[in-house]
Formats: sequence, C-alpha cells, structure tokens
Amino acid sequence: MTDLFSKFDPLIEQRETLLESGLTDPFNLVMEEVESPTVAICNGKRTILLGTYNYMGMTFDPDVIAAGKKALEDFGSGTTGSRVLNGTYAGHKAVEQALMDFYAMDHAMVFSTGYQANLGVISTIAGKDDYIVLDIDSHASIYDGCALGNAQIVPFRHNDVEALDKRLRRLPAETGKLVVLEGVYSMLGDVAPLKEMVAVSKAAGAMVLVDEAHSMGFIGDHGRGVSEAQGVIDDVDFIVGTFSKSVGTVGGFCVSNHPKFEILRLVCRPYVFTASLPPSVVATAATSIRKLMDSAAKREHLWENSKRLHAGLRQLGFTLGTDDPQSAIIAVIMPDLETGAAMWEALLDEGLYVNLARPPATPAGMTLLRCSLCALHSESQVGDILGMFAAAGRATGCIS
Ligand SMILES: Cc1ncc(COP(=O)(O)O)c(C=O)c1O
Repeated sequence: MTDLFSKFDPLIEQRETLLESGLTDPFNLVMEEVESPTVAICNGKRTILLGTYNYMGMTFDPDVIAAGKKALEDFGSGTTGSRVLNGTYAGHKAVEQALMDFYAMDHAMVFSTGYQANLGVISTIAGKDDYIVLDIDSHASIYDGCALGNAQIVPFRHNDVEALDKRLRRLPAETGKLVVLEGVYSMLGDVAPLKEMVAVSKAAGAMVLVDEAHSMGFIGDHGRGVSEAQGVIDDVDFIVGTFSKSVGTVGGFCVSNHPKFEILRLVCRPYVFTASLPPSVVATAATSIRKLMDSAAKREHLWENSKRLHAGLRQLGFTLGTDDPQSAIIAVIMPDLETGAAMWEALLDEGLYVNLARPPATPAGMTLLRCSLCALHSESQVGDILGMFAAAGRATGCIS
C-alpha cells in the first residue's frame, strides 16, 4: 500500500525541526479568553490582538450581540437545511437586504463562508469553455473556484495592468471572459489599481469580479471597498465579500446588478448543497452591516492607526510590504521562516499577537509577520505595539 500521507513528509519534517527548537507552535495558539476586539488571554497572558480580521471591531458591539441573542432564542440554533429548501428564514432575507442597501445594488446572495462565495460564483459563471484571467497572488478560494468550474486559467503578474491587458488581448474575441481581482491583497496589504484594471477588462469585453474581503467597511466613503474608492464600482459586475472580517461574524456574499443574477440560487452548487447560516449569525451580520453604513469616524481612526503603525515600524528599521500604508494590513517582511517564527514568539512573550504567514499563502516564498489593525485599537495601544516590536526586534536581531 502506498501511504497517501507520504507527500506531506517534507512539511512534517520542517514543522518538527521548528518545534524541537523549543518554539511555541505558531499555528496552534489558543485564545483562552477574549476580552474585546483588541485584547485576549493567550498562554495565561493579557495579549494585544494585532492579527485578526476584526477591522471595524464589531464582534462585541452591544447591538450586534443583542441581535444574535434574540435570533438564537426566537429561531433556534440552526436551520438544518439548504437555502433552497427549509434554510431560508426571515433573517437570511434581512441580511441580503442589508447588503443591497450597503452596496446600493439590486441583488445579494449570502453563502455560508466567503470561501464558498468565491467557490460558488466563480465555478458557476465560468465553465470549461470560458477564460478566467486572474492576478497570480489571488486568494486560494479564487483558485479553487476556477478549478471547480474547470475554466481556462490565465494568471497575470501581481497588480500589473499591462500584463492583464496583454493576456486579455491574446484571448479569442468570442469567448466568455471573467477577470477576477481583489481590492486589497491580504498578504502584503497592497491595493489593486482597479480603475485601470477594470477599464482594460471592459475594453476587452470581459466581466469583472472583485473580492473586497479586506476592504469592506473600511475603504471608500461608504466602506464599499476599493472599487468605490477608485470610482469604478458601477463598472464591476460582481463584488464578493465575507462576514468574517469587518462584519465580525462568519458568512460570505456576492452582490451584483446583473439582471439574471437570481438564477444562481438554483445552479450554484456551493450555495445549494450546504446548510444555510444559523439565524443568530445572519442577525448579527445584518445589524453589523447596517452599523457599518454609519461608521465614518471609525474609518478615520483606523486610517490614523494604520499610518501611525506603518511609520513607526519603518522608523524602527523593519522592512514592510508596502512603501506607504494602503489598508489596515501592514506586513513586516522577515528574512526566513526561522527568524520569523522567533520574532513571532518574542512578540507573543511581550504580549502581542500577530499572524505568522508563510508559503504557500505568501507571494514569492516570503515569511511575513502580518499586522492587521482594528478601528478600536487606541492610540496608546498602537504606542505599546511599537514598543513591543522594538524590544522583540532587538532581542531576535531583526533590527539593531
Ligand atoms: C481575499 C479573500 N477572499 C475570501 C476569503 C474567505 O473568507 P471566509 O473567511 O469568509 O471564508 C478570504 C479569507 O481570508 C480572503 O482573504
């Protein structure tokens, strides 16, 4: 018998070597208690959270919690069914209406996760005779959506408008084409040049899908994302997003003005063949989305946090993923996995949690310490964070 697990041997060995050095497992941390969107107890220690996707700090919002509790009591703990059978409750329609209002679009479809939203929409609209042109650094859920639909995949260099244009020009004129982009790329926290990319895509007769997972709630005057901030939201055919980041719960969605959009509810397998979200989750999501419509002050504070952390880390001598702060994600580039893991642990010992990211999730084989800010981080917390980076950086030799 061939052991089907033998292909994982190199990874198992790398992991064992790292753990044998006495390092805390960076991929097995337990949040023992969670005090707020910015503080948790980890390894018995009060820890500032700088590695969550809780950009707008909605997880402990009193209205959000109250809506969830009420729905749990009124509608029970789960729907036990698909959206197309017994799994559509009033709350699912209410959250879809909240999304239509938030984005000012005609249609909204809610999935059980953001992963499933990409998987479902991409695989259903682009089949084996169609082309999907996508940024090479696209999220795994986008690649998996392409694979599920069996479409022809044409990747182009990250954020390179000319490369996208060239790829599009080489495709046969009469074929179906979908360009898939992200507003903010989650590893380096950089923003896509959507204005130019949407223009070349439209000129080539392609439909455009933008995943705004990391920009919803924060970027754009109404928090609709990078496509709003760059003035192209009306030219984008589909926006995909998630409830697991700024919205502060779990779930995914697609919004669109396409007149035939509703047919997806009958033909999209990751929507049809899975249970719908629990009533408490859709109630918290709807409440959160409606509050995000009116969160300009929080957005402003989050920008201040992002600018302050970016400037401070740079001043300390760290190498960052972007030259300027472009989103709520600031990536600190580490020279290798060993140093990255040591720095990650040193930060944890200081009382700071960040994400350790490594290939294949990261581009170009990079090891990153990904910092993601929250609108509820106070000015003094950002000061503390910089102090912890200074101490950990010097202790591990990352900075002098
Ligand atoms: C760009 C992007 N799209 C989709 C997802 C999937 O979201 P979810 O956590 O809701 O499955 C993620 C999650 O990290 C993401 O970064």
